[in-house]
Amino acid sequence: MSRTFIICKPDAVERGLVGEILGRFERKGLKIVAAELRQLDEDTLGRHYEEHVGKGFYPELVAFMSRSPAFLAVLEGPEDTYAIVRTMMGPTNPAEAPPGTIRGDFGTVMTENLVHGSDSEESAKREIAIFFG
Ligand code: RTP
Ligand code: MG
Repeated sequence: MSRTFIICKPDAVERGLVGEILGRFERKGLKIVAAELRQLDEDTLGRHYEEHVGKGFYPELVAFMSRSPAFLAVLEGPEDTYAIVRTMMGPTNPAEAPPGTIRGDFGTVMTENLVHGSDSEESAKREIAIFFG
């Protein structure tokens, strides 16, 4: 089996879109194997987004991700679960995300793009250890 880590970001929780997002993954055939609503702090976000620390958008990203609770989950499927989730999320910029993807259907701006998904098997293992280790 293959697992990945997702975050329904604070905008998704605030807008009441957690059920919609989780429902899409469940209907696709992925199983929720862990989940929790959690307020994220700056230290944890620094570990999670370590490749972005120091970039121009990083302060805005941390302010957004820590402004209200996020919904964290681990999803499981038979193989390449991270890739399935990334395809369903759509590109980072909602303006470029096609209809039918989560970001394409519900997002309008770059930072507030509703959902995070690990970008490889290795990232998934690393992120699951950070949040559910
Ligand atoms: P994520 O890690 O959240 O799943 O998103 P991603 O892989 O599609 O995009 P990534 O490049 O890892 O960026 C992480 C998050 O930072 C915000 N961002 N803002 N204003 C900007 O130029 C900018 N670039 C990235 C987004 O919230 C993005 O999801
Ligand atoms: Mg990323």
